[in-house]
Amino acid sequence: MSTPPAIAGRGLTMRFGPATVLDGVDIAVARGEVVCVLGPSGSGKSTLLRCLSFLTPPSAGAVHVGGEQLGMETKSDGTTVPASAARLRHQRSRIGMVFQSFNLWPHLTALGNVTEGLVQVRGEARTDARTQGLEMLAAVGLADKADAYPARLSGGQQQRVAIARALAMKPEILLFDEPTSALDPELVGEVLAVMEALAERHTTMIVVTHEIAFAAEAADRIVFMDGGRIVEDAPADRFFTTPAEERSWRFLERTMGRYLGLSRPQRPDMSGMSRHDHEV
Ligand SMILES: Nc1ncnc2c1ncn2[C@@H]1O[C@H](COP(=O)(O)OP(=O)(O)OP(=O)(O)O)[C@@H](O)[C@H]1O
Ligand SMILES: [Mg+2]
Repeated sequence: MSTPPAIAGRGLTMRFGPATVLDGVDIAVARGEVVCVLGPSGSGKSTLLRCLSFLTPPSAGAVHVGGEQLGMETKSDGTTVPASAARLRHQRSRIGMVFQSFNLWPHLTALGNVTEGLVQVRGEARTDARTQGLEMLAAVGLADKADAYPARLSGGQQQRVAIARALAMKPEILLFDEPTSALDPELVGEVLAVMEALAERHTTMIVVTHEIAFAAEAADRIVFMDGGRIVEDAPADRFFTTPAEERSWRFLERTMGRYLGLSRPQRPDMSGMSRHDHEV
């Protein structure tokens, strides 16, 4: 029997009133795979992560984690029924999330933030949680900040605590939603370095990012979204050299063309078009 994907979304659709902001998205990520999600603002990247983690259950479609459908449970007689709240909580704890806005508890130290879930959700003893928490803080380079409160930490340090907190729960998949977007430019590198180390260890990750260099370096696969759909899903090296879709080309030209001198092998002659026609 083949191994099921670490996480898979099928037909994921999200509607807000009359607007369909996620439109039948299929995505599957294998164990140990690093997928970066790129796309313009409003294309549905955050919505995709929120649906995959059931933070906001999708309007339609299904999510499977290691073959088990989120929000459903199979009873002893083989019938499948909606999952109890406790079962769903357990299912969701298999997925770790890191957000742009860290979301640390201000009244807890760095260590307290990392161990809180272990004690409250996993029911671990405080001494065991403390040992694991210190290990996780060391893994993100913050062993010396265990007793510091978030207000005394830089944005980069706070985000690394948030990553340590997610890692402490030993999730099967980590989802990152623009983890460096709220940081001062000089603090971005220290967070990306932690994420690169995770990628090198083949942590299963889906990363929504605008950091194209990170995506090119760390991702196995790129998922490019626009208008609530996946426009292209390709190995990273192919996506960045020869994307298949015109829309991907335009995005890459706009985001990195001016730095890398990227130009298409057969660039269409747009000289006869009005300015509006070739605007991204
Ligand atoms: N709770 C909501 N109610 C109504 N519309 C929403 C809601 N959440 C998101 N949307 C809409 O869904 C679309 C996709 O939003 P989403 O946040 O997923 O985009 P994104 O790709 O993450 O963009 P960005 O790069 O700016 O973070 C947007 O048009 C947004 O306005
Ligand atoms: Mg977003």
